[in-house]
Amino acid sequence: MAELVRLAQLGDVAVITIDNPPVNALSPGVPEGIDAAVKQAVADAQVRAIIIIGAGSTFIAGADIREFGKIVAGERPKLTLLPYLLNIEDSPKPVVMAIHGQALGGGLEVAMAGHYRVLAPKAQVGQPEVKLGIIPGAAGTQRLPRLAGVVKALEMCAEGNPIRAQEAVELGIADKVIEGDFLGGAVEFARAVAEKPAPKTRERNEKLKGVPAAVFQTAREQARQKARGMRAPLAAIEAIEAATRLDFFAGCEEEARLFNDCLFSSEAQAMIHVFFGERAVGKIPGLPKDVKPIEIRRAAVIGAGTMGGGIAMNYANAGIPVIVKETTAEALERGMAIIRGNYAKSAAKGKLSQEAVEQRMALITPQVTYDGFEEADIITEAVFENMALKKRIFEELDKMAKADAILATNTSTLDIDEIAAVTSRPAMVIGTHFFSPANVMRLLEVVRGKASSPEVIATAMALGKKLGKVAVLAGNCHGFIGNRMVAPYFREAYFLVEEGASVEALNQALYDFGMAMGPLAVEDLAGLDIGWAIRKERAAHLKPGVRVPLVADKLCEQGRFGQKSGRGWSRYDENRKASADPETAALIESVARSARIERRQISNGEIVDRCIYALINEGARVLEDGIALRAVDIDITYIYGYGFPAWRGGPMFFADTVGLPKVLARIEEFKERHGADLWEPAPLLKQLAADGKTFKGLDKQKEQR
Ligand code: CAA
Repeated sequence: MAELVRLAQLGDVAVITIDNPPVNALSPGVPEGIDAAVKQAVADAQVRAIIIIGAGSTFIAGADIREFGKIVAGERPKLTLLPYLLNIEDSPKPVVMAIHGQALGGGLEVAMAGHYRVLAPKAQVGQPEVKLGIIPGAAGTQRLPRLAGVVKALEMCAEGNPIRAQEAVELGIADKVIEGDFLGGAVEFARAVAEKPAPKTRERNEKLKGVPAAVFQTAREQARQKARGMRAPLAAIEAIEAATRLDFFAGCEEEARLFNDCLFSSEAQAMIHVFFGERAVGKIPGLPKDVKPIEIRRAAVIGAGTMGGGIAMNYANAGIPVIVKETTAEALERGMAIIRGNYAKSAAKGKLSQEAVEQRMALITPQVTYDGFEEADIITEAVFENMALKKRIFEELDKMAKADAILATNTSTLDIDEIAAVTSRPAMVIGTHFFSPANVMRLLEVVRGKASSPEVIATAMALGKKLGKVAVLAGNCHGFIGNRMVAPYFREAYFLVEEGASVEALNQALYDFGMAMGPLAVEDLAGLDIGWAIRKERAAHLKPGVRVPLVADKLCEQGRFGQKSGRGWSRYDENRKASADPETAALIESVARSARIERRQISNGEIVDRCIYALINEGARVLEDGIALRAVDIDITYIYGYGFPAWRGGPMFFADTVGLPKVLARIEEFKERHGADLWEPAPLLKQLAADGKTFKGLDKQKEQR
């Protein structure tokens, strides 16, 4: 194995290089290596200053996240970075941290223990630990406020977002941005400070003084809002507050206590699962190693509606010129106005410059003809969810698209193979299911047909990344991963209101569980007509005698389509603010009475269990049918596409944390009460529960095969 830490000498400057690819994480051996190198450099009479730098593309991306699981399992001692950082800080010779790429988490903590920090122009620094359900554990919450001030430290530690080089200098986190030759500039800087006193961050207390209590109160309120349900951001705030009350060492003890509380929580296990899951879903077993994605230089989209417009924005945002086709000039104009409006909102929030808005708009060519479609590398169909219409479009596309163009459908439920079959190139057909609003939601569900070629699959996955999405590969069945599972979730939501839960109680219970929105609020937002259309298409597939939801169709028959018509499950004012609608409540009651559905008090616990366990049970079937490659693909789908709380790790991980025997027992109870047609436990769930195994364990087994 190559050396993790190297020591070299450039005249009177020692250069310590951390070389632990891919991201120079602080894996076992790295902190020890840095410590030994610093001691050696200090002992060397020729050395006047010391530089610590990262090999490859980055400085240090933090602690080795894989180690946290081992600490929790008792296989490794608790985090021990702190004493090594004190040794750096106590070095009598100035230590200059030369940061290119990222200094994140433990990486920034190492950097702050140095006496000076110089940054490459594109460097970023941050304390992203809350995104793993933990807080900085090596004095980050104690040193950062000393450099950046309490307010900025609160923001960085509680929200976890990195900041850029220039801002880091302005805040006092770093001393200089070096343009041009980075190492050369760092050496020059080190020589210039060699004789100056080496300031210890831990002794710089000026910025900790006189901070009003309201600052922490505001930070807590914001954290409760922005990271609803999470404990780590509040712990980070507590640790920073401790820095203002206690001396450095007592503050570190408080940080360590809070860090350990967080690390051993299910929140941290879930968030770490999501971190690795987000990366795992990009790895497709069975795809040949040498498969090369097709380069996407030009795109075209059919349909400028909500989805089509959002998809076109994705291409434009990634710098890919895109044609958007509609059938009429009016529809096109409406669609383009929405796109411009979306960009204007981003510009108003300061997220985009006006120049960038114009650049992106210029990449979108609106038209009512197929002109230029023959040059597109990918054509994405985003029209209404109707099989006959989609087939007609694919027949037309097949005639005009170049032979090696990918034909993608944005269908959210329909059979990809049936669509592909009308073309002469089923190998080039694939599903790219975007989530609404497509310019915002991070999930891209890539649906492979039975004929989709490996190149086309690899291209769609790579395209997801290029568009800034997390792409998950699904197999072809009604609804794929996401919408197949969401069907029983909604079914239970409908049944529960018919059995006596109020619309408000139902939405609130799932919101309190952590979902971004309650299911009926989601439906009001998306439009009740979408589910209505799907139910009509699926009517022929229903098993006679099995209970079906009744109220949703009745609302649609009355033109109550949700927010867009001012009424759906709830009533909406002109600002789209929801309130309870007594007419909906009366309708539900009368429908239930006519259908002889017993009405009763329903607890929040039952609401959550029925909706979430329906999701899990279908998830297990999706897995055993091979529609999802791994349980983690389901988890990522639900977190990025359906607003499932990341801190619960996704539905399958959540089931693991509850315990599969317990989940199964509850499903059996529901089966007893509501019948096997609705609640037959998935065989895979039964098997895992019987064997004392977990969905995560099953994923691990597959990985090892
Ligand atoms: N530990 C272990 N592995 C890590 C890692 C870390 N800190 N950071 C990244 N990796 C791994 C990834 O899992 C990935 O592995 P595979 O190739 O096997 O999938 C590989 O490194 C490359 O990572 P990305 O695909 O994410 O590469 P990128 O270039 O898109 O992003 C990055 C690079 C911005 C550094 C990103 O990986 C990242 O944000 N990493 C996590 C940073 C972080 O959260 N640090 C805090 C750790 S906790 C801590 O430090 C606690 C403390 O106080 C001591």
